[in-house]
Amino acid sequence: MKLLQKKIEEEGIVLSSNVLKVDAFLNHQIDPQLMKEIGKEFAYRFANEGITKILTIESSGISPALMAGLYLETPVIFARKKTSLTLINDLWTAEVHSFTKNETNKIAVSKHYLTERDRVLVIDDFLANGQAVLGLINIVQQAGSSLSGIGIVIEKSFQNGRMLLEEMNIRVESLARVKSLENGKVVFLEEEAV
Ligand code: G4P
Ligand code: NA
Ligand code: NA
Repeated sequence: MKLLQKKIEEEGIVLSSNVLKVDAFLNHQIDPQLMKEIGKEFAYRFANEGITKILTIESSGISPALMAGLYLETPVIFARKKTSLTLINDLWTAEVHSFTKNETNKIAVSKHYLTERDRVLVIDDFLANGQAVLGLINIVQQAGSSLSGIGIVIEKSFQNGRMLLEEMNIRVESLARVKSLENGKVVFLEEEAV
C-alpha cells in the first residue's frame, strides 16, 4: 500500500535494525484518514470471504481493526491483556510470549462474542515473531470459529512471524512489508502486483 509506505518513509523512525517506531500515526498519535484507507484496503482484500467478526488485540490493533470493521460491516473484538478475574469462566484465553520483552502474558476474549458460527479476520498493527497473532488464532480455534486470514499493517518480513503463519497455510495480507531496517533505512519488499 503506497500511501502507508510513504507515511512510514516520512514519519517512521528506525530505532535499531529490528525496531521501527511509528508513534506519529499508529502506536501513539493516530492518523484517522490513514486508518480509514487501511480499513478500506483490508475490506477490499477480504471481501467475499463471509467475515462476521474482526479480532484484534489491545491497544494498537484497535484503530486499523475498527476501520476494517466499518467497511466490512462487522463487529470488532479486541483481546484484552488484563483480565477481570471474576469473569474467568466466560473467557477464551491464550498465552502470548514476547521475545522482545522476554515475558509471557495471558490474553482473553469473552465467549459471548466469538462462536462456532463466526468467520474471523484477525488484524494487528505489527507482525514480528507472530506470537500475538498465534495467540489470537488459538482463541479462534478454541471458540470453534473459522479463520479467514490475517491482516497486518506493518510486517517485518525479516522476522519469523510471516513464515510461521505460511507454514500453517494461513492467508496473510500485510499492507507494508519491511524487508530490512539496516543502516537506519527502511527497505520494503516490492508490492505484489494485484
Ligand atoms: P516479538 O514477538 O518480536 O517478541 O514481539 P511482540 O510481538 O511480542 O511485540 C511486542 C510489542 O511490540 C507489540 O505491541 C508489537 O506490536 C510491538 N512491536 C513489535 N515489533 C515492533 C516494531 O518494530 N515497531 C513497533 N512500533 N512495535 C513493534 P504491544 O506491546 O502489544 O503494544 P500495543 O502497541 O499493541 O499496545
Ligand atoms: Na504494538
Ligand atoms: Na499489536
